[in-house]
Amino acid sequence: MTDGARLAAIGTPPYDRPMIASVVLHADPTPHAPGLVLRPWCADDVTALAGMSHDPALRRWANLPAEGEAPRWVRDQERDWAAGARFGFAVLEAPLDAAARLVGGVVLKEVAPGEPTAEVGYWTAPGARGRGVAPRALDAVTAWAFATFRAGGLERLHLLHQVDNAASCRVAAKSGYAFDRVLPAFPPAFPLDGHLHIRRTR
Ligand SMILES: CC(C)(COP(=O)(O)OP(=O)(O)OC[C@H]1O[C@@H](n2cnc3c(N)ncnc32)[C@H](O)[C@@H]1OP(=O)(O)O)[C@@H](O)C(=O)NCCC(=O)NCCS
Repeated sequence: MTDGARLAAIGTPPYDRPMIASVVLHADPTPHAPGLVLRPWCADDVTALAGMSHDPALRRWANLPAEGEAPRWVRDQERDWAAGARFGFAVLEAPLDAAARLVGGVVLKEVAPGEPTAEVGYWTAPGARGRGVAPRALDAVTAWAFATFRAGGLERLHLLHQVDNAASCRVAAKSGYAFDRVLPAFPPAFPLDGHLHIRRTR
């Protein structure tokens, strides 16, 4: 965990069912950007989420819903969290003088009891890129994941990106996910080679 992120999970949820209302994470502000609040997705996010559906980078690299699919997508996030295998966080920027706004998402997925490996994913809204939103948010979720699931066997988190996604590679490096190896292309879903980065509990 870097200095910039701190864990603020309220209470310790049971291993397989972190209560949806009980998890709020924070990342500190930087000299150039407000602090972040991370919480599970909810209906309040639908309008902002739908407004991002046309961004080319998100369409290319992130699995966000089409505009009309945002309500169903949020409901799916809530259902998956309740099932205990996939934990999607909305990332909100919290300026002192304005209402918080949606600036990104981070997901922890492939979590299973006794399974040492899980996977993370992330994205940042177009207007919020370049001020460390993704690495600060990812760092907060990484700390939460190890604090919550380590007793259940979680030892390492995988981060995958396509080789030509240089911005994502920088997020991995800044968040302490060490480059591990090149993954061969697997078309049509993965037309180019990828990078596997790994962060371990220690
Ligand atoms: C990759 C992504 C999550 C980075 O998020 P971010 O919050 O902008 O992260 P950072 O501020 O740390 O910037 C990371 C890199 O993005 C690039 N970047 C900087 N400003 C940028 C901007 N305004 N627009 C786009 N990229 C920018 C830089 O290469 C930066 O690295 P640097 O800090 O060493 O210069 C974001 O670009 C994004 O959402 N892309 C589309 C979805 C995606 O690729 N998700 C990851 C799939 S594996």
